[in-house]
Amino acid sequence: MKIIKLINLLLIVSTSMLLVQCTTDPIPGEDGKDGMDGMDGADGASGTAECAACHNVSTAEEVHASYLFSAHYNENMDHQEPGGGPDAPFVPLSRYGNRGFGPNFGTSTCTACHTSDGYIDWTEKGTALTGDGVGPIYPGTQTITCNTCHGNHTSFDFENDGYDYALRVVAPVTLLADASVTIDYGKDGMTSHTCATCHQPRSVFPLPNEDGKIAVNSRFGPHYGAQSSLLEGIQGAEVAGSLPYEEPASAAHRRGSSCTSCHMGESTGNIDGLHSTIPTETSCVQCHTSGIPSGDFLVEDIKTLEDLLLAEGLLKLNDDGSVSPVGGTYDLIPAQALWNYRMIYYDHSKGLHNPKYAKALVRNSIEALQGN
Ligand code: HEC
Ligand code: HEC
Ligand code: HEC
Ligand code: HEC
Ligand code: HEC
Ligand code: HEC
Repeated sequence: MKIIKLINLLLIVSTSMLLVQCTTDPIPGEDGKDGMDGMDGADGASGTAECAACHNVSTAEEVHASYLFSAHYNENMDHQEPGGGPDAPFVPLSRYGNRGFGPNFGTSTCTACHTSDGYIDWTEKGTALTGDGVGPIYPGTQTITCNTCHGNHTSFDFENDGYDYALRVVAPVTLLADASVTIDYGKDGMTSHTCATCHQPRSVFPLPNEDGKIAVNSRFGPHYGAQSSLLEGIQGAEVAGSLPYEEPASAAHRRGSSCTSCHMGESTGNIDGLHSTIPTETSCVQCHTSGIPSGDFLVEDIKTLEDLLLAEGLLKLNDDGSVSPVGGTYDLIPAQALWNYRMIYYDHSKGLHNPKYAKALVRNSIEALQGN
């Protein structure tokens, strides 16, 4: 396989060099005929130009330079801060290969998104390795590298298939926590499917027990990958209230932008965009032509909801100032309000990914709690 690819590549490169020679080095005196040759040359040139648009030194430099500023590069995806004080060793998440969840996932869990090798296994073979919950299942340093996201080109027919950037995942993503939902950003947005594979929720709002109550533990919520479901406008606990919930996949940020356009778009020249994955304002101003609205538009409401949940005893204040859910069995509405608070928290964008949906979840939760 590799050899055939290499031969193909060499063929493309060598033919195009011949063609470039034809067009850039015409023989004087035969202008008319050379002109015809030139047409053929144009086809060849577009072939390599297409490869060279990505495969060139300055792009490579830009990619590497920007990547150094990303959390993907700087944080070890495999390590979890322990509760045991600053000197306690970090806990490798890759030991938790035995935590089952989701109809789609068998029994291997944390390893799929928290180790590079596990992600490659998952996306290539359909599952990451499982283990006993004691030793690390994928040993060694497990940070996200180029090879985590990029593998081989699946197609060189860019015109019909779009640019796959040799990404492991460009196909729509069926959610682990709810196999009835497939996130499909279309051909133009297919590079963002890579993001949605890891940045997806691990659980959905639980079914009530026989008394109509909801069991809650200290990790209640969708997990840190809530970005793709918030952007989609799904999987909030849609408490009734004065603000409507719009159709899934209809939000302006979902339809007109994407994970990669906002997070990997053209840099402003500061440290943002490209492979830093830090949102870049060049992507926002395409729509927000008269100024980018403040990202703090929902902060006060989130605080109000937090205070109500603290007062009702569903959240508790920790010594370090953070809050966490209090395990127990609760009525539907307070549990829904807690879920919505946790979904916004885990998403980490303070509701910006989908302002209308986030506002509806938070404000309707506040109304419902105040009416209780
Ligand atoms: C292999 C799983 C995986 C893939 C694929 C992935 N991410 Fe991440 N992402 C993570 C993890 C894990 C973290 C937490 C930081 C770390 O441990 O590397 C993270 C962190 C981030 C952060 C910073 C969050 C913070 O707390 O500072 C952003 C932004 C981000 N990812 C965006 C993206 C985008 C955009 C894509 C698609 C191009 C993407 N990610 C693809 C797993 C992934
Ligand atoms: C579907 C992919 C996925 C799976 C499976 C997954 N996580 Fe995560 N997790 C993420 C992403 C993505 C982030 C980072 C998001 C961000 O920084 O905003 C994250 C962040 C975390 C964090 C917070 C960051 C840190 O390092 O402190 C912890 C803790 C964590 N995950 C634990 C787990 C555990 C334990 C499991 C298995 C039971 C697990 N995760 C399974 C995607 C996943
Ligand atoms: C978190 C996943 C992820 C990681 C890690 C990653 N890339 Fe990418 N890369 C992408 C995505 C997604 C795109 C397509 C971006 C878009 O749609 O604009 C891309 C695009 C590219 C491009 C084309 C850029 C352009 O401007 O045309 C190159 C080259 C590239 N990556 C190389 C690398 C290299 C080298 C590394 C390691 C230093 C790396 N990537 C790490 C996801 C990733
Ligand atoms: C839209 C951007 C883009 C275009 C166009 C593109 N590539 Fe790539 N290609 C990438 C990225 C990104 C990678 C993976 C990261 C890296 O190796 O820099 C890659 C990897 C490769 C690899 C190594 C992986 C594999 O598939 O075996 C080869 C070979 C390759 N490209 C050949 C080509 C050829 C030949 C063309 C033109 C017909 C081409 N590429 C066009 C972005 C592109
Ligand atoms: C409309 C543009 C936009 C889109 C679309 C978008 N994001 Fe974001 N995202 C942002 C902004 C802006 C922030 C807030 C950054 C901040 O507060 O530092 C953010 C925050 C985040 C964070 C938390 C970063 C942190 O510092 O904690 C992650 C992770 C993330 N986005 C991943 C994604 C993923 C994955 C997708 C696609 C499912 C996505 N985003 C789609 C603009 C966007
Ligand atoms: C495709 C066009 C488009 C792009 C690109 C876009 N936005 Fe938006 N944005 C909108 C529209 C339309 C609204 C109002 C509707 C809504 O809330 O969904 C909005 C709402 C917002 C809000 C909520 C304001 C409020 O008070 O309710 C914020 C904050 C925001 N955008 C920030 C950003 C940032 C930051 C970026 C770039 C990272 C960005 N937007 C990119 C179209 C866009």
